Amino acid sequence: MKDSLWRQPYLIELTYADNFRRVEDSIRGRNLKILEVGCGTGFMSLELARMGHDVVGIDPNDKIIRIARRTMETDPYGKSRGDLRYEIADFNKWSDDPGTYDVVLFSRVLHDLLHPGKILSRAHHLLKNGGRLICLEYAYDRIDRRAATWLYQIRRALELTGWYSSHLPVDPREGVDAIMNDALYGRKEHINKFEEMRHPLEQLFHGEHFSWHCYYCWDVFREMRIPDQRREKALAGLFNGMEQLLIDSLEIQPALFHFMGTKATV
Ligand SMILES: C[S@@+](CC[C@H](N)C(=O)[O-])C[C@H]1O[C@@H](n2cnc3c(N)ncnc32)[C@H](O)[C@@H]1O
Repeated sequence: MKDSLWRQPYLIELTYADNFRRVEDSIRGRNLKILEVGCGTGFMSLELARMGHDVVGIDPNDKIIRIARRTMETDPYGKSRGDLRYEIADFNKWSDDPGTYDVVLFSRVLHDLLHPGKILSRAHHLLKNGGRLICLEYAYDRIDRRAATWLYQIRRALELTGWYSSHLPVDPREGVDAIMNDALYGRKEHINKFEEMRHPLEQLFHGEHFSWHCYYCWDVFREMRIPDQRREKALAGLFNGMEQLLIDSLEIQPALFHFMGTKATV
C-alpha cells in the first residue's frame, strides 16, 4: 500500500471518492445496464452495482480482476446489489450486442488506449439510443509552467522536510524544467493528448456536461511520506484546496476533465 492512495481513507476522499461522486451525479435512472471499460480493481463498478444497476467491468489485467472479484465475493451488500460481472478483456477485442448499455464509463483509461476515435465508436455502438457516455480523463499535455512551478514548490518543501520519496534539482528553474520534462516529453509509452480525445467525444456524443478538476495533487499524495496522519490529512487538504483555487482563478491549466454526453446519430 506504500505508493497507493488506498493507504489512507482521507486520501481516497480527495481523489477516487471525488471522481466516483462525479460519475454518480452523471447517472440518471434506476436499474441501468452499465459497462465500465478499464475498471481496474473495480471500485466504481461495485458502487454502481450497490446502487442497483447491472454492471459489467472489463480490464485486461488478470491480477487486478482477481482483486475485483475477491472484493465482489466478500461484499457485505452482495445480496441487495444489482448484477455485477468482471471480465478479463481488452476493450479492442471485446464485444457485446449493439445497443445493450444505458451507460458506458471510462475512468482514467481513454488516455492510454490507441486510436481513441475507434474506441469511442465501439462504445457508441454498444450504447442504446439515448444512452450516455461518461468519461473522466487525464489530459497530460495540458500541464503548463505555472502548474509545474506550484508542484515544484510543494514537492521541494516536502523533500526538505524528509517527507517526499523522490528528488528534484535544487535549482528551482531546473526543477520546474524536470517536472515539465517528465510530464510532457519524457514519456516512453503512448498516451493520447486532450484534443485527440475531445474531438471524437464531441463528434459521437451530444455533450451535456464538461468540467475540469484537480489531478496534479494525486501524484503528490502518492509520494508524500508524512509520518503523522493528522498532519498528512491537513496537508493533503491544503494541496487539494490550493489546486482547486488555482484552477478556479484560471492561474493553472487543469489536467483532469469530466465529459458526459448522449449517443448522437452519426
Ligand atoms: C489508471 S487505471 C484506472 C482504473 C479505474 N478505472 C480508476 O478510475 O481508478 C487504467 C486501467 O485501464 C486498463 N486498461 C488498459 N488497457 C485497456 C484495454 N485495452 N481495455 C480495457 N482496459 C484497459 C488498465 O489495465 C488499468 O486497470
